[in-house]
Amino acid sequence: MPMYSDDIIEEVRSRNDIVDVVSSYVQLKRSGSNYFGLCPFHNEKSPSFSVNRPKQMFYCFGCHKGGNVYTFLMEYNNWEFPEAIEELANRCGYQLPKREMSREEKLKQSKKVKLKNIMKDAANYYFSALHSNNGKMAMDYLTNNRGLDRDTIRGFALGYADGNWDSMYRFLKSKGYEDEIMKQSGLVVFHEKGPRDYFINRLIFPILDDKSKPIAFGGRVFDNSKPKYLNSNENEIFHKRNNFYGLDRAKRSRRGAYILCEGYMDVIALHRAGFDNAIAPLGTALTKEQVKKLKVDRDSKKVYICFDMDFAGTDAMQRAVGMLALCGVDAKVITLGEYKDPDEFIKANGSEAFEERINKAENSFIFSLKKLREEYNINDPEENNRFFRMMAGRLYVFPTEIERDNYVATLADEFNVSADSIRELMRDVAKNESELNRYKEGFFRGYTAKDFEEESETNDDIISEDMYENNSRRLSTAKMSKRGIMETEGILLTWLLDEPSLYNAISKYIDAEDFTEGVARDTAAKMFSAYEAGEEFQPAVLMNAFEDNEDHKRIAGILNTKIGELESNEDKEVLLKETLIKLKNEGLGRIDTSKPGAVKRIKKVKGDIRNIQSTRLL
Ligand code: UTP
Ligand code: MN
Repeated sequence: MPMYSDDIIEEVRSRNDIVDVVSSYVQLKRSGSNYFGLCPFHNEKSPSFSVNRPKQMFYCFGCHKGGNVYTFLMEYNNWEFPEAIEELANRCGYQLPKREMSREEKLKQSKKVKLKNIMKDAANYYFSALHSNNGKMAMDYLTNNRGLDRDTIRGFALGYADGNWDSMYRFLKSKGYEDEIMKQSGLVVFHEKGPRDYFINRLIFPILDDKSKPIAFGGRVFDNSKPKYLNSNENEIFHKRNNFYGLDRAKRSRRGAYILCEGYMDVIALHRAGFDNAIAPLGTALTKEQVKKLKVDRDSKKVYICFDMDFAGTDAMQRAVGMLALCGVDAKVITLGEYKDPDEFIKANGSEAFEERINKAENSFIFSLKKLREEYNINDPEENNRFFRMMAGRLYVFPTEIERDNYVATLADEFNVSADSIRELMRDVAKNESELNRYKEGFFRGYTAKDFEEESETNDDIISEDMYENNSRRLSTAKMSKRGIMETEGILLTWLLDEPSLYNAISKYIDAEDFTEGVARDTAAKMFSAYEAGEEFQPAVLMNAFEDNEDHKRIAGILNTKIGELESNEDKEVLLKETLIKLKNEGLGRIDTSKPGAVKRIKKVKGDIRNIQSTRLL
């Protein structure tokens, strides 16, 4: 049951000019036929991010991200395809066909909408309370005790729950909310004696979803009473294990990494100091779902772990390291010396000093073992044995021998033992299944890499899952290792795109088969058949046919190859001949001579090469 047909996808795309859409996110300046701006996907000082109106395509010459208007929205907002198409349909007033929802789905859906509305109203209420006379004490606490400025307070939409026992209840009642939805929101608790607010006399931290909409709240006391923090309860729109505090902003950060810290105040302090990539789990150890979220990030960003160095923080760090290593995320650990957490560190030393700590961050696997080593008495052989066996067991977190071997070498150095003895210990530990499992259980809770691959089971958006499964529009995934040939193919296709008239001059000598299999050949095939039919070739339409944004990036790369200045017609003729011959020769080398038709193909390609050499093309 496909959600939207290819026609609809194309219709919506064509009604939204990419320059207009991108302009609302990135400041663009016109330069020739392109618009340029600072790339939102990587950190840069001079603009290499280009948007092209005729091609309806964007491409960054720095980080090589690229695609059409859908790709842009998905990459920028970390959306799935359905969110991108809904946004664009709204933008141009196109009515997308509705999928019939079952009764339960409808009920659930409207409950979600109600929950989101109530959270939004509550967030506004807390926010204004903080800014009212009544909230002066809370505001003083934030500015004086925690050193926050108004902008930060506004940016994180911090709020204040006053000391009355039913302010929120009365506010929500006045807004027309029913008791049932108040109860489900977790904002009001219904006792036998009557309704009572969940947050009383607390500082409020709204927890936002990917679109920066409030879905829950955290509340901190102003003194030393317990519990220090409360989180509003889970419901259809809020799953603790699925969210990070600060993720909505961190996703848009230009820093090629996340800083994973422990709590609300750490995130806020880091963002305020310019580290807009800070996130924190919501009062739990890092969960499988959260790791998946970090892993699926399309930039495969690094993760810097910066937990408190107390007992709880160290324990959380050990587990985070294990799970991140298990799913191949490049994780490093930031240490803060004598400071309790990033908030304190930055207050004392400033953001440059923190930047230095980032640069000095250590490989997380090695760090976690060094930290663990401190818990064992080096002078006790029995304790040494236990430590090294555990280390040997943990090494199996890495799936390949090469990876393990790299670590073995470093660890041998670090702990002054021979690499061979570590390897021997690894073999020995592997023989004892229950022992090995114990180490795995302790380090990464016994998960396997596979656990991090399947679709998240608690995806809020049922529709987007269906959409994705049923609308599999992937044609192929290209693996292009040879840069030389990729560039040659790119030069020719970019040139043909910019100068379609060139096609007539060379069509006799080339076909899509001359291109390497995958996106290059698919692009060539689509382009050539459009030109054969006397039609325009639209790269953005071609991209609709690829589900994977990586493919969009490749296509955009191919079609944005730098050609260089061609002064004279003679220069053009020479470059064109060179390019074609290189392409043909490469193709020749790829022909599988055991396949039928190979001889014929070889003959044809050789003939083409001779003709290209001997004929004037332009
Ligand atoms: P911390 O006690 O380190 O809090 O707990 P913090 O964020 O540094 O806050 P400040 O600086 O003391 O104000 C770290 C995180 O653990 C969760 C919260 O998410 C908190 O941010 N936590 C802590 C709870 O959920 N409940 C608690 O009672 C304490
Ligand atoms: Mn802390």
